[in-house]
Amino acid sequence: RKVGIIGVPFDKGQKKEGVARGPETIRAANLVDKLKILELDVRDYGDVHYNVNDINDVKNMSHLGHVASCMNNLSEQIQQVLRDGRQALTIGGDHSLSIGTIDGHVKERQDVAVIWVDAHADLNTNKTSESGNVHGMPVALLTSELADYWPYLPGMDWQMPILSIRNVAYIGLRSIDRYERLIIEKFGITAYGMEDIERYGIHDVVHMALNKIDSHNSKSLHVSFDIDALDPLEAPSTGTPVRGGLSLREAIHLMEEISRTHRLTAIDLVEVNPQIGNKQDVKMTVQAAIHIIQAALGYSRRGLRVPEGVTD
Ligand code: ARG
Ligand code: MN
Ligand code: MN
Ligand code: MN
Repeated sequence: RKVGIIGVPFDKGQKKEGVARGPETIRAANLVDKLKILELDVRDYGDVHYNVNDINDVKNMSHLGHVASCMNNLSEQIQQVLRDGRQALTIGGDHSLSIGTIDGHVKERQDVAVIWVDAHADLNTNKTSESGNVHGMPVALLTSELADYWPYLPGMDWQMPILSIRNVAYIGLRSIDRYERLIIEKFGITAYGMEDIERYGIHDVVHMALNKIDSHNSKSLHVSFDIDALDPLEAPSTGTPVRGGLSLREAIHLMEEISRTHRLTAIDLVEVNPQIGNKQDVKMTVQAAIHIIQAALGYSRRGLRVPEGVTD
């Protein structure tokens, strides 16, 4: 199997410094080598760069010019990775980058289902957001049902909200804004919060989510994993931590189950901020990210197999 890595050193979707250094920090922890031992053909496409669009401001939407330009380039890059016959692994950077990765995935594969693993729903528009941060808005930008809630967004003409909200499932929610809850209920969005994980266990939650958004086992799957889905005790170095989250074991199990479908096409791992917490905090967060990525790409906790031809 073949994987393409894309780094997105982007932090303009929120206001804390440091998340742009996620990609270099995760790479420095030997990500590529830790994937190569899974006998994957790994190609690192490097970081996505962009020129800032000098566009008119949109009310309560910070740095839209940066977001529009960077995510346009990222969408193109994802399409290239998929055309090269590789799974796309995108490392962030803040969660606004999923605007680019999911747009690219949908343009290349059409029939896409998204599992959004996050403490937050990231479902605000510029009218409902209390922060004006675009990393709290990607799901609302990507989905066709919510297109009418947006004003015209200069610089975003490349982006088409062609994903149906019926093809999105949330796992791990525990910090939802008032209007986000309203939208989740109004559209009957598939959403498993922490209380569902307590009730059913992570294994059943993953399979209930897949049954809802991909009932024929036919779609190209995209996992958008915000590291703040994990409990801050296990992933402290992130900008908007919320207590009471997933354990790393639950996250690994979730990824193992999705990996087993053999339809996992794209993975985003976002919101690792190496400038939050001490050295030990950063190390623990980065290691958690790498375990989650390894599970997504086929690592088994049963151990690796002996390579073919060396059995005696
Ligand atoms: N709901 C809050 C907001 O709209 C927090 C969003 C946090 N998003 C994230 N990707 N960490 O600003
Ligand atoms: Mn989050
Ligand atoms: Mn299981
Ligand atoms: Mn998020």
